[in-house]
Amino acid sequence: MFAQRCSRFFIVKPVVPSASYLNRASRTFSTTGAKSYETILTETPKPNVGLVTLNRPKALNALSSTLIAELNDALNRYEEDKDIGAIVITGSEKAFAAGADIKEMEPLTFSSAYAQNFIAPWSHLANAVRKPVIAAVSGYALGGGCELALMCDMLHCTSSATFGQPEIKLGVIPGAGASQRLTRAIGKSRAMEIVLTGNNFSGKNAGEWGLASQVVDGGKDELLEKSIATAAKISSYSRIAVLAGKEVVNKSQELPLKEGVEYERRLFHSLFGTKDQKIGMKAFSEKKKPEWSHE
Ligand code: CAA
Repeated sequence: MFAQRCSRFFIVKPVVPSASYLNRASRTFSTTGAKSYETILTETPKPNVGLVTLNRPKALNALSSTLIAELNDALNRYEEDKDIGAIVITGSEKAFAAGADIKEMEPLTFSSAYAQNFIAPWSHLANAVRKPVIAAVSGYALGGGCELALMCDMLHCTSSATFGQPEIKLGVIPGAGASQRLTRAIGKSRAMEIVLTGNNFSGKNAGEWGLASQVVDGGKDELLEKSIATAAKISSYSRIAVLAGKEVVNKSQELPLKEGVEYERRLFHSLFGTKDQKIGMKAFSEKKKPEWSHE
């Protein structure tokens, strides 16, 4: 339903993400020479929400190099667009993504994989995107599909979604972060069993284990409605405070507790230098709705 309402196509050209998008004038998207992507759809279902739909239905959204390059390009454009406050990534009803593209990987050798640093561009989502990203998972999220969802800041899914790391059945191991992110999210014993047996787990399990923050009993449309509503809510706050909130939660994955708490306190202090702190606290005192400046 949302995928059919593509409201904005982007010109495909590399854009380097920059921290300065907050102060830039709104981008104008030229329609001259604009082209749609081959393997994803992009749209803005709400004014401040960017939506990327993985769209290789015949291959169950297998994550080819082209798809990852297009996803990274779309994410860069949403990073640059000052109107966008949060991003949702989704797939089809049947598959979020059934993993890295096995047919593309089959001919790889050690030297070709190593020389081209295969899979490294996938990390763009986790390493370079500062706006919050929600994965909305319906159907299969296997191998790299599960790993892509794990790179997002929040994971929403249907209760019937199917997650798993089946790489062991292909004679390899996860290569896009599952051994690290899944283990941190659900604990060593469960992650070890999933990686070593290749057994799948459900969206219901994902909710019970704390991997998913929202689990929806309906289908993809109901899921997407919730994910877009969450993204819209996040977008309604000060962009500066949202960036800082994402940054400090992510630091908890890397820093020891004492350093993490100190890091949070420093960033908290720094927000008293923003206009939005004054706007937010004044609006509270005056019982008004804050009109954020995003500065
Ligand atoms: N790569 C390439 N093509 C894929 C694919 C993948 N990961 N997953 C599915 N496809 C293709 C199938 O080859 C098939 O194409 P054809 O019609 O041309 O034969 C099409 O998508 C539909 O798939 P199925 O007919 O298999 O559909 P199904 O409903 O019977 O089964 C499934 C669905 C259980 C998800 C099954 O497709 C499957 O097991 N896929 C592979 C899952 C997998 O092993 N993922 C891990 C990949 S490795 C990885 O991701 C490494 C990493 O860590 C980065």
